[in-house]
Amino acid sequence: MSAQIIDGKAIGLKVREQVAKDVAEMVAEGYPPPGLATVLVGENPASEVYVRMKQRACAKAGIESFGYILPATATQEEVENLVAELNADPKVNGILVQLPLPSGLDDERVLNAIDIEKDVDGFHPINIGRLAQKGRESMFVPCTPNGCLYLLDEMNVQIEGANAVVLGRSNIVGMPLALLLVKRDATVTICHSRSQDLPGITRQADILLAAVGRPEMVKADWVKPGAVVIDVGTNRIDDPSTEKGYRLVGDVDFDEVKEVAGMLSPSPGGVGPMTIAMLLRNTVRSAKMAHQNA
Ligand code: GUN
Repeated sequence: MSAQIIDGKAIGLKVREQVAKDVAEMVAEGYPPPGLATVLVGENPASEVYVRMKQRACAKAGIESFGYILPATATQEEVENLVAELNADPKVNGILVQLPLPSGLDDERVLNAIDIEKDVDGFHPINIGRLAQKGRESMFVPCTPNGCLYLLDEMNVQIEGANAVVLGRSNIVGMPLALLLVKRDATVTICHSRSQDLPGITRQADILLAAVGRPEMVKADWVKPGAVVIDVGTNRIDDPSTEKGYRLVGDVDFDEVKEVAGMLSPSPGGVGPMTIAMLLRNTVRSAKMAHQNA
């Protein structure tokens, strides 16, 4: 039987429509529109695409975006000075420093410089630390992991007590995703390139979330029949038959896994749109908090 496909595009769109309504209400009440500053350092083509998509989504929702581009030669001090300026700018409610930063720059120091009340990416060490602690709440939760949870909730997937396996342990996705799942009372296994018998581990999953950045790595025999599979990966693979010479695939072999899984969030078209939707939501929430504190 073929898996039910989780439509992240449609679910993300619904969230973005609600965000647009919230922004319109805020503006009608006489407040300025929420503002998101994006900081792109260097010339990573994938990062350029992601930042452009985030800015477009802001414009559609009525959120003002302020784009900053620094050269790959920017110094640590220059990046941190820009963050300090944005922290002090009342028009900016959210600061997003696109990762990865070029080598030589210390991303932890940059993320640490962001005002936690404007940390709409949820990557500030304090926000991540709170995510890891029982009874504590982060000011903001990282967007991609939060998008995964949103999809599961929208599809009424039981998280509490489920065996969740997270494939990948990155700071941006795998680790915060695992922490969020623990907060929701799942039994969580994190596995990675050094894990032994990956298929044996992933086959235990009621919910399998793949975020390793390996094209189509997860095959049908890695998946327990009926499991919920969330593909977080976005990988470029060469394809001379396309205009760009490449196409995007996830970490999950879609054609194989859809025959085994109970539900499947594909990539592209699954978690990606949710990341943007969660970012917009966080930005509006930050603006609301700023109004309340004014
Ligand atoms: N790089 C890949 N995903 C993300 C994200 O969600 N936020 C930032 N800042 N950088 C990323």
